[in-house]
Amino acid sequence: MDEKLLIKKAKEARENSYSPYSNFAVGAALLTEEGKIFTGCNVENAVYGLSNCAERTAIFKAVSEGYRRFTAIAVVADTDEVCKPCGSCRQVFIEFNPDMEVIMSNLNGDVEIKKAVQLLPGSFSRKQLNS
Ligand code: THU
Repeated sequence: MDEKLLIKKAKEARENSYSPYSNFAVGAALLTEEGKIFTGCNVENAVYGLSNCAERTAIFKAVSEGYRRFTAIAVVADTDEVCKPCGSCRQVFIEFNPDMEVIMSNLNGDVEIKKAVQLLPGSFSRKQLNS
């Protein structure tokens, strides 16, 4: 997994962020098992609750194009520490791959990598729906 490339793509996607309410621009880049990269940015709305995070934009783009097997996702924002995905995005990572590598970064070049399951231990999943 080329984490540098994913971080670069996430930074580029961040440039497209539509975030006039928070002024907090986020970019993401998702790697599929096939080696394809899908990018995303946060997209906000005057009805604040409709805003979508960069990570979920990337994942929903990929799923809608027929890709479901993800190995890694990079997320970048202009933060002092690395940018940490929100709880909703963590739940979406778990849906597709609990072992997905989550590459958290910022514009200073700090990087922290954790598996999705480490970011949301003990989460609800489809296994419980069938039990
Ligand atoms: N946001 C993301 O896109 N990803 C994250 O990991 C953290 C938060 C967005 C949501 C909202 O548009 C803005 O950042 C402020 O919360």
